[in-house]
Amino acid sequence: MWTKGSLKKAIEEQLGEYLLIVASNREPYIHMHKKGKIIFQRSAGGVVTALDPVMKACSGLWIAHGSGDADKKTVDKHDRLQVPPDDPKYTLHRIWLTKEEEDGYYYGFSNEALWPLSHISYTRPHFEETDWKMYEKVNRKFADAILKEVGDRKAFVWIQDYHMALLPKFLKEAGCNNIITAHFWHIPWPNPEVFRICPKKKEILEGLLANDLLGFHIRYHCENFIATVEKEIEARVDRERFSIIKGGHETLIRAFPIGVDYEYVAELSESKEIKEDMQGLKEEFLINHDFVMLGLDRIDYTKGIPERLRAIDRFLEKYPEYKGKFVFIQMGRLSRIHIPAYKDLNDEINALVEEINWKHSQEGWQPILFVRRHLSYPEVIAFYKLANICIVSPLHDGMNLVAKEYVATRTDNTGVLVLSQFTGSARELQHEAIMINPYDTEDCADRIKEAISMDKAEAKRRMQKMREQVSRNNIYRWAGKILAELLRFEFKE
Ligand code: F6P
Repeated sequence: MWTKGSLKKAIEEQLGEYLLIVASNREPYIHMHKKGKIIFQRSAGGVVTALDPVMKACSGLWIAHGSGDADKKTVDKHDRLQVPPDDPKYTLHRIWLTKEEEDGYYYGFSNEALWPLSHISYTRPHFEETDWKMYEKVNRKFADAILKEVGDRKAFVWIQDYHMALLPKFLKEAGCNNIITAHFWHIPWPNPEVFRICPKKKEILEGLLANDLLGFHIRYHCENFIATVEKEIEARVDRERFSIIKGGHETLIRAFPIGVDYEYVAELSESKEIKEDMQGLKEEFLINHDFVMLGLDRIDYTKGIPERLRAIDRFLEKYPEYKGKFVFIQMGRLSRIHIPAYKDLNDEINALVEEINWKHSQEGWQPILFVRRHLSYPEVIAFYKLANICIVSPLHDGMNLVAKEYVATRTDNTGVLVLSQFTGSARELQHEAIMINPYDTEDCADRIKEAISMDKAEAKRRMQKMREQVSRNNIYRWAGKILAELLRFEFKE
């Protein structure tokens, strides 16, 4: 099994004189002002959950947008600091964006155009020329910062996600034979019929094809990408090597299903701190129900939160005997709230919670508890531990690490996972999780009932199998496989 130690060793042996640089929009640690003090938080989201443990294991440099209101106060004169701030393991270099740049690049082109374009959840993408200009400008800003960091050394730049589609091209155009790039696209890649509406499709594809390696979570997204390239630009697809050659440059296309830091999560979930947090949360939120179901998401229209709430409403209509004994806890941080679709979603969720709670409430009991306050990572783990059931119901999701994290915390092999068939993680967990189609309210209600009434021995058998899968395909294996592919060393299982 791959561990922190084996990844560290592989990197030391294989990376040699190469500098390791990760580039992403979201920074792993954010500083902010709170009650007259400066505090820090680890950011939420798939990229940070996955890459923070990898970077802790192998040092290196992470370049990201400094978005906290106290970020500038905590860097040195080169805009760098050591993180995690309380136990330094690697370097974070913060990039500053103007409000105008953040609006156009992050809210605009990344999240109003590319995000809805890549997820099939029927939210229409918006394309604005001014957003595109900012997207280009910010990608160039990242390239300049990286080139300055690298100088004339050799570097392996590991680019994350859809915010950085032009970065590989800008790096390579600078004439850098000393830089190799791997790009991991953390969200789905749509089919060519969907992608073809993007007015900047050619630029996006050409940007990505400057990479030496381009990774997706599942083979299906690789196939979609290749089909898109075949339809949209002049390039040669090598089916044998599963690569694309454009202008004499080859980009390997590969699937690497991402995982979690299984060992760390499992160990943490057994700790005294978590036991105390569980007790604290029970008291704070008055949790003493026989059946606790949990949902944890960034508030995003791809996550299927209203669909999940409607299924719970239907479940209580069909099976009223669970009233008083069941609670659904939804945790979720607000996200991208300056975008109208996100604001509307937040309003819709608030209204639904209110309506469903009012409809089913009795004798001081309410079925839905929406936790709105910030939760520390140990508190998130404590919530996973409190839940007999975890429901993950995206309409479309590249992987979804909540499903894997929940499994990793179930050290006693109890708990049932209810999982949308439209997530990447369904490819690995579909035989043991209870599968749902979040668009099918009636069936979801019945699957919740199935989860609640599952025989204990059967639940245990399924959880054990899921734990084996999640522990084997952990985050260190994911990182090791990408490095092995790029640096051409033998990947030993
Ligand atoms: O997993 C997709 C992703 O966009 C990540 O890049 C990011 O970490 C996460 O979702 C959270 O989104 P945001 O950084 O926009 O809050």
